[in-house]
Amino acid sequence: MKNIHLFYFSPTHTTKRAVQGIGQGVGVEVIEHDLTFACDSDEEFNLGENDIAIVGVPVYAGRVPEIAANILKRVHGNNTLAVAVVVYGNRAFEDALLELKNILKENGFSVIAGGAFIGEHSYTKKVGTKRPDNNDIEIAINFGKKIDELVKEGNYKKDIDVKFGVEVGVQPHTKDYLESVIKKYPFDFVIASSHAIDRVDLAFGEIQAGRTKDEVHNLYFEYVLQNIEKYNEFNVYGHIDFVTRYGGEKFRGLDYKKHFDIIDVILKKLIEKGKGIEVNTSGYRYREDRFYPCTDILKRYYELGGAILTIGSDSHIKDYMTMDFDRVYDFLESIGVKYISSFDKMQPSFKKIK
Ligand SMILES: Cc1cc2nc3c(=O)[nH]c(=O)nc-3n(C[C@H](O)[C@H](O)[C@H](O)COP(=O)(O)O)c2cc1C
Repeated sequence: MKNIHLFYFSPTHTTKRAVQGIGQGVGVEVIEHDLTFACDSDEEFNLGENDIAIVGVPVYAGRVPEIAANILKRVHGNNTLAVAVVVYGNRAFEDALLELKNILKENGFSVIAGGAFIGEHSYTKKVGTKRPDNNDIEIAINFGKKIDELVKEGNYKKDIDVKFGVEVGVQPHTKDYLESVIKKYPFDFVIASSHAIDRVDLAFGEIQAGRTKDEVHNLYFEYVLQNIEKYNEFNVYGHIDFVTRYGGEKFRGLDYKKHFDIIDVILKKLIEKGKGIEVNTSGYRYREDRFYPCTDILKRYYELGGAILTIGSDSHIKDYMTMDFDRVYDFLESIGVKYISSFDKMQPSFKKIK
């Protein structure tokens, strides 16, 4: 068995507790290194191929604290396996986990797993009160057990690939802002989508008030088209016809034939611009019993020569991740689609279905 080293920077001890929980789960004796005051020393830590480092830092302003990043420069791996852990005060951990992974990679580690845990916010006891609590520690222990299994089975990919993606809600007035943000950061994948018309979210019901179902749906597609014509910084358009989700029963279900013309213009525009569409499975969870977009639209996109299809579950919570993906694969195969796309640095690659 490899030697397990716990490293943590933890002024208010929540990171320490989460990392210790993970160490407990791994189930062997661990070697602990508390780096909280290590800025006062110049000790170097050198780990070898028979070690595993579990490295935890708190999240400050969505990042790895600068002081911790500087201390970690003295923790060196030599093709050493590592687990990256960030602990945040229940606001958001933003880029911290990715940043920690990159720091470890630069220092000679192969990061095989990562986790974000919640700790009581060091500014106030009112946020994340008393976390990590027993439940959090149990999760940390189970995470440690999984790491142990992973290492014993050798069933890990050295250096996990963490992709950087975003969904942007496009409206004509947000175009310039969104384009500047997307260009500024090294995104792998961007989904553009329409959630609002004239600055009003479809979920509020105001758009639907006083309009028929056909009027609302047509208006929505006109907006989608406008957005696609104007906006460029995206790879696929998300849930193209999810307008049917909002407004209540009266507005449910898409009458595809009634909107055929405008949908065709949208699909042709996407193809002309080299953009794809997302097959979003959340319709099954929203009692619509279908994908967004519906199968008619998917067939038509393919028929028109569209070749870029990505799958998403719009999960919001982990239990919904990849839900109903098999239905998508089965359907796409049934209409002759052979490849599904994924993106790296905004460039598509194509993977054969099954
Ligand atoms: C300067 C500072 C900035 C912070 N920024 C964030 C943040 O961006 N998001 C968040 O959720 N918590 C934030 N927190 C809360 C800490 O991440 C959280 O309390 C963490 O559990 C502290 O870890 P520790 O107990 O190991 O010191 C911040 C705390 C401090 C002191």
